[in-house]
Order: sequence, then C-alpha cells, then structure tokens
Amino acid sequence: MERAVTATDNSVSITRMTEHDLLEVVEIEENSGLSRWGWAAYYAELQGNNSHLMLVARITNPVQRPGTRSLAGYIVARMGADELHINNVAIREKYRRRGIGRDLLQRILEEGKRSGVACAFLELRAANTAALALYDRCGFRITSRRKNYYSEPVEDALVMILKLGGNA
Ligand SMILES: CC(C)(COP(=O)(O)OP(=O)(O)OC[C@H]1O[C@@H](n2cnc3c(N)ncnc32)[C@H](O)[C@@H]1OP(=O)(O)O)[C@@H](O)C(=O)NCCC(=O)NCCS
Repeated sequence: MERAVTATDNSVSITRMTEHDLLEVVEIEENSGLSRWGWAAYYAELQGNNSHLMLVARITNPVQRPGTRSLAGYIVARMGADELHINNVAIREKYRRRGIGRDLLQRILEEGKRSGVACAFLELRAANTAALALYDRCGFRITSRRKNYYSEPVEDALVMILKLGGNA
C-alpha cells in the first residue's frame, strides 16, 4: 500500500516508483551524472523483489498544469546478504538543497531497519562532494577506497557504510 509522506517541503510526497515514472526517472538520471541504468534496467528492477526500495519524490503542486513534469528525484536500493545497498539517488537540479535527497535516503534506511539488515552501504565518486556531504550528514562513514572503480571519467570510488542495527 502506498504511503504518502510529507518531506521537508510540504509540497513534496514520497511514494513507490511505478512504471509510469520511468521516463522522468531516466531523464533525471541522464542529467545527474550517474552511471547509466536506462529505462530497461529500471523496468526490470521494478519487476523484482526490491521494487519496494524504489521511491520517487513528487512535487504535488495543486495548480500544476496537466502534463507538467512532477518528479523532483528518486532513489533505488537493494536488500541482500544482510545489507542494504543504495544504488542510485538523484534530485532534479532545480529542487536540490531542499532536503529531498535526505528524505528519500531516510525513507530507504527506515525500510532497511524494519527488515532487520545490519548495515547500509554505497559507493560514490570520490569527487562528488554533494553526495559525500549528504551521506555524511545521514551518518554514513567512509570505510575504503576503490582505485579507478569508475569509468568515463576514470575515478576512484569511496565506499561508505552505516550501521543500522539488525543482527550486527
Ligand atoms: C547528492 C544529491 C542527491 C543531494 O540531494 P539534495 O536533495 O540536494 O540534498 P539535501 O537537500 O537533502 O541535502 C541534505 C544535506 O546534504 C548536504 N549537501 C547536499 N548537497 C550539498 C552540496 N551541494 N554541498 C554541500 N553539502 C550538501 C548538506 O549537509 C545538506 O543539508 P543542508 O542543506 O541543511 O546543509 C544531489 O546533489 C544530486 O542529485 N546530485 C547528482 C546525482 C548524484 O551525485 N547522486 C549521488 C550518487 S552517489
């Protein structure tokens, strides 16, 4: 069952991603410098066991014209082996620094805690200062560095982990 949650900005609601969101999700992905998944990969993920860990933040402006883009951002994670892996999080540029990324992340972390996993982890480009600041703010800590992990451009990855409790 969908549960609309009010984010920091009360015109934003967080709900589960559906197939109808994918064109906007891919558009946000393409404009955010993330490693490419593309429509087919998101669609496949929506058919799998982790679809409850795919969330969108939607601008709910009552005077918005029909057909206007409404997704501010999204997050995609996976659960496995007692860990929550945050794969992608991105916010449309004009909606950044409003607390939406943090709200999406917190919602996913709550899911992880509810499921009893021990920790959450993620990788990010070493020079991605905005993401680093967001994750640090949410309690993640750097545990290792993977040399030349990313391509186009080649860059190191930082691995960050947050203990959630669970069976740890
Ligand atoms: C990283 C990203 C998701 C952050 O989303 P956001 O909605 O702008 O972040 P929030 O507004 O929730 O920020 C929460 C906190 O994170 C930190 N933060 C976020 N962006 C920051 C920035 N550009 N510079 C410094 N700190 C930043 C701040 O501490 C901020 O709290 P504050 O605004 O009260 O100071 C967004 O910049 C983005 O989409 N970037 C491109 C895609 C990307 O790099 N994704 C991560 C891949 S690993």
